[in-house]
Amino acid sequence: MKVSITSLDLTDLDVDLVIVPLTEQQATESLNTLADDLGPAFTRASDDFSGKDDQTLIVYPENTRARRFLLVGLGMADDVTMESLREAAARAADVTAPMGVETIALTTPRVSVDLDSACQALVEGFMLASYKYLDYKTTGGEHRPVERIVMHGDKNDTVGRRGAERGRIVAEAVMLARDLVNKSPHDKTPTLLAREFEKIGKKAGFEVSVWDKSVIEEEKMGGLLAVNKGSVDPPTFTVLEYKPENAVNDRPIVLVGKGIVFDTGGLSLKPTKDSMDHMKADMGGAAAVIATFDAIARLSVPLYVMGFIPATDNRPGGNAYVPGDVVTMHDGTTVEVLNTDAEGRMVLADALSYAKTYNPMLTLDVATLTGSQVIALGGRVAAVMTTPDSDSVARLDELEAAGLRSGDMVARLPFHAFYKKQLDSEVADMKNVGGREAGSITAGKFLEHFAPTPFVHIDIAGPGWTPKKMPYRPIGGTGFGVRLLTEYLRGLAAPKKTKK
Ligand code: BES
Ligand code: MN
Ligand code: ZN
Repeated sequence: MKVSITSLDLTDLDVDLVIVPLTEQQATESLNTLADDLGPAFTRASDDFSGKDDQTLIVYPENTRARRFLLVGLGMADDVTMESLREAAARAADVTAPMGVETIALTTPRVSVDLDSACQALVEGFMLASYKYLDYKTTGGEHRPVERIVMHGDKNDTVGRRGAERGRIVAEAVMLARDLVNKSPHDKTPTLLAREFEKIGKKAGFEVSVWDKSVIEEEKMGGLLAVNKGSVDPPTFTVLEYKPENAVNDRPIVLVGKGIVFDTGGLSLKPTKDSMDHMKADMGGAAAVIATFDAIARLSVPLYVMGFIPATDNRPGGNAYVPGDVVTMHDGTTVEVLNTDAEGRMVLADALSYAKTYNPMLTLDVATLTGSQVIALGGRVAAVMTTPDSDSVARLDELEAAGLRSGDMVARLPFHAFYKKQLDSEVADMKNVGGREAGSITAGKFLEHFAPTPFVHIDIAGPGWTPKKMPYRPIGGTGFGVRLLTEYLRGLAAPKKTKK
């Protein structure tokens, strides 16, 4: 999809469809103005459209080059947020989809959300709602996506242009993550997935280097190797580096993504329905990390960022690791494995301890880590935990704010030191499971043991995948985390926030 800006008169727009988002406060007046310029169809439309947020109405005016207009309700002006704009654009995309239109114009609404953010949100909502995964369809794949979105605004609207452009880049990154998650497991073995990462890095402009099994062995990544033991395919460990010349930080931000390309549970085998049947999504954290690199590189965010992606499948093959195995991890810690299905923390721990060699200013991991996260927060909100230090409250405030703006919402879980006791082992330094209570938190505590400080853990088990259609997210991989991390990193790079 291409995105451009125009300030032509509405009558002169040569597009298949013009989308007009309107609040309840604006509806009457705007429809009168439209009627003056484009004809009485808009006067009649005002009988059926008042701007409520569940309304859409198609209008076929006479005096215009555009074939049709679509009015979309935004609800009450005071309630308009970036997220409600995304959802409004998504409703427009849903109405538009069956029409097979190629070019649309979107009029910039007059709302309290600043113009730049409003344009970003509308473009994101429209593009993400239009997403369809068709790689394996041999029929029904004729779906023609919209080719061009023209943002219609006032003359000299440079701010709107930047927001619309950012919306396009972010939406494309989210769709890239969705594509990787939706891919069939046999098409994304660790090696094939790493090839994709290399392609993405080359196109967007960041470094990608892929370690094969022999390097992983030299580095003594015992956790990653243990999980891989039941597998026929070798593991990979991918290192990402984005270091622009104008970076505001000397020590890198590190992003670690869980790259379990398929999680059967291993010998602690998962049941199929509503469990193993969507475990191709267990590399959703890795997808979020690579796609965030894509977004920040394309947006030229002035930050030095490193990424680490440990990748393997988790299977009960011939020599698979077993409950009772004691594994020596990358940092030398010994871990008693009591459930082979707690594999994510095994591979992430090695990546986190390797990250220490970079002396990062901040380390974040994104992972589809625990079923408890889904039970606690559901499918739309991720869990965040962070090192309890003097900056942790501000850090969580900023993450939550980035979540609200981006639409990838997060909620904080407590992270007291005492939770770690649940991981005490009789035979080794730690167990890999902490029991039923506070399962997401003990998983986070396990990771914290290996991570550099300060550390943020983001569990996306629920929101990484959706089993039902949600606003601008079809069934399947959601690309959750890309918008959150991109927005958060943009904030870290902004001059006002780099006080330290
Ligand atoms: N990949 C799963 C977590 C998961 C569950 C992701 C549901 C998405 C939806 C993870 O590897 C796992 O199996 N976790 C176990 C840990 C337990 C054995 C301590 C879990 O949460 O059941
Ligand atoms: Mn598992
Ligand atoms: Zn898993």
